[in-house]
Amino acid sequence: MRKKLVVLTGAGMSAESGLSTFRDNNGLWEQYNVYDVATPEAWLKNQELVLEFYNQRRKQLKNVAPNSGHLALKELEKYFDVHIITQNIDDLHERVGSSQVLHLHGELIKARSTIDPEFLVLIDGWELKKGDLCPQGGQLRPHVVWFGESVPMIEPAEKLITSADIVLVVGTSLNVYPAAGLLYYAPKSAPIYLVDPNEVDAYVPVNHIKDTAAKGLPKLITELRNLIA
Ligand code: APR
Repeated sequence: MRKKLVVLTGAGMSAESGLSTFRDNNGLWEQYNVYDVATPEAWLKNQELVLEFYNQRRKQLKNVAPNSGHLALKELEKYFDVHIITQNIDDLHERVGSSQVLHLHGELIKARSTIDPEFLVLIDGWELKKGDLCPQGGQLRPHVVWFGESVPMIEPAEKLITSADIVLVVGTSLNVYPAAGLLYYAPKSAPIYLVDPNEVDAYVPVNHIKDTAAKGLPKLITELRNLIA
């Protein structure tokens, strides 16, 4: 039975692909006020501004590629039962073929009905506009978890971490709950590796690999394989 490797990724995972993080220098929350573009109140106040914020990110996503960190996580599927819990709304893990990806904060390439939250549709191209409606006539919104909204996938994510043999944390400042609280669910027996070029307050003991995702993850493959040798 292959060991279960549960990976928690954040914006730093996609930084070397050219996608902005949130809280680094020049991060997204330095360029935009989160309350203008990523809250239910923002949607009520100015739908076009919110749609445009995600259209710009979706347009950028069409022009970037996964990096060697994403590829290393796919490679680890040869040796482990790899489950990725990502806070990212990009599809870069899926583009390299990672087969078990759980999006905690939604998916940029999908839209959701504002009448029936079960109705999801892939966005054709990069634009979602006012007047793009679901079959029931409701405006389509980004399928993204906004600040102040519930995180429906948190329970499956907690279950995954609880059953991990090894935990890997990549590219997250662990600032945003409930995602940041997931490490509390890791079994005491599971070593936690954290890949980040900067200091991160992880509140639990971790093996901190001070490196970037694209450089640090390929090197980590050997170390993780030795764990199960
Ligand atoms: N490789 C690995 N880590 C990196 C890299 C890199 N190349 N570049 C930056 N980092 C690290 C930073 O040091 C930081 O710890 O990635 C982390 C990015 O942290 P944030 O910008 O806070 O992003 P994240 O933790 O994913 O934010 C969580 O907040 O705004 C919400 O919903 C949004 O999902 C997001 C959530």
